[in-house]
Amino acid sequence: MVEMDKIVSLCKRRGFIFQSSEIYGGTGSCWDYGPLGVELKNNVKRAWWRDSVQSRADMVGLDSSILMHPRVWKASGHLDHFTDPMVDCRACKKRFRADKIDDDIWIHFCEATKGNKFNIPGGEACKHCGAKRTLCPVCGKGDLTEPRQFNLMFKTFMGPVEEDAAVAYLRPETAQGIFVNFDNVLQSMRLKLPFGIAQIGKSFRNEITPGNFTFRTREFEQMEIEFFVMPGTDEEWHQRWLDERFAWYPKYGIRRENLRLREHEKDELAHYAKRTADIEYLFPMGWSELEGVANRTDFDLKQHAEFSGKALEYFDEETKQKIVPYVIEPSAGADRGTLAFLVDAHREEEVKGEKRVVLNFHPELAPIKIAVLPLLKKNSRIVETAHKLCADLRKRWHAVYDDTASIGRLYRRQDEVGTPFCVTVDVQTVGDDKAAADDKVTIRDRDSMQQVRVDLTSLPRVMERLMAGEWPQVHAEHGVTRE
Ligand code: GAP
Repeated sequence: MVEMDKIVSLCKRRGFIFQSSEIYGGTGSCWDYGPLGVELKNNVKRAWWRDSVQSRADMVGLDSSILMHPRVWKASGHLDHFTDPMVDCRACKKRFRADKIDDDIWIHFCEATKGNKFNIPGGEACKHCGAKRTLCPVCGKGDLTEPRQFNLMFKTFMGPVEEDAAVAYLRPETAQGIFVNFDNVLQSMRLKLPFGIAQIGKSFRNEITPGNFTFRTREFEQMEIEFFVMPGTDEEWHQRWLDERFAWYPKYGIRRENLRLREHEKDELAHYAKRTADIEYLFPMGWSELEGVANRTDFDLKQHAEFSGKALEYFDEETKQKIVPYVIEPSAGADRGTLAFLVDAHREEEVKGEKRVVLNFHPELAPIKIAVLPLLKKNSRIVETAHKLCADLRKRWHAVYDDTASIGRLYRRQDEVGTPFCVTVDVQTVGDDKAAADDKVTIRDRDSMQQVRVDLTSLPRVMERLMAGEWPQVHAEHGVTRE
């Protein structure tokens, strides 16, 4: 498994992700997606939206606002329950989540070895003196305060006056925007149970200990579904959604062995949940949550009905009764998903005695789909043909033109950002005084480094097939060489 530092540095070097406000020294936990990062993340969101919304007859979409009526958060329970226990170090003043403090390495000055300093894995005791961590895990010296409950919602004010009546919160989950619009969507779209409402959007949590790159940040994007079902069918639907969502990640390239399901213990369940299981990914820092799939019962609709005074019910034509549906919630992180796709795609291998770094993204997710490379940048016919070809391909795919290095270097650059196919225009393509143009170009496959030569006119059709995963067939039909 690749180390996170390598991913962070590749992301910065190749324009995927930068630290926010870097020229001012950066902000603790905020990241900016660069030119390739925004393409990758948009592709992840697009794939999720197409698979979750557009290709299903039982799902509709929504884009609700980030700022909502403050009563929403009273009704949802976030004002009272959305807290983490926080402790402070009295010496170095660092803050920690009390319930996670033993997850990471701790510093220990061991009396049994004349005060030598050791880094000990989280939760383990010192091998020399047998002591367990009681002091600050970072400085190894300070006492910790008693835990205090800390609400994770960001507070702000609506309008020009900073007074209690104007307090508003940045939403900590997109889900509540769906619940409060339940009746609007139901009536306007004439939906029948079971049906879902899906939404992608920013959420904000004032995390005590953000970290691990984009894994835990204070501003992040969620891709959430609230799937409303008849009470009594909720357990079956929960399992169906777990299976569906678990299969989604491998569909876009994540290796099955790097995914697992983790059932929440009873004492770990959120205040609204009857059952929750997390889809976990083996991130560089260990197994961690990628997506949660919860059975939220009828908790949210009932709470909002009570607090707003508006009925949030469904009229069942068969029984002629009004019911409050149960809800199954697959809740994924767009940033965590993007990070998992990045980490899982990373490969380092040796080719002709040199290191090759590759991101083997699924073509659907790759930020750049095709790179058009002229073999000789001093040959104006080659350059012209390559520019024209790139402009044509760009109408259909995200294609780039690059002539700033030798062909070998250009291939490596595209490998490192995960471009699945390179198209090379050479002397044979355009012809010279010795030979007529053959009007063919070379396509090179990122993963196998195999090449095929195809007619310029058939290139768009061949590309369609390659994007659909037909390299082996195309290679068998045209088969030629390897780089
Ligand atoms: N509506 C349910 C809900 O919000 P959650 O488990 O707190 O459940 C769902 O969050 C997903 O949102 C997580 O699985 C994760 O992918 C993402 N997420 C949550 N907190 C995050 C954070 N601080 N930074 C990045 N992603 C986060």
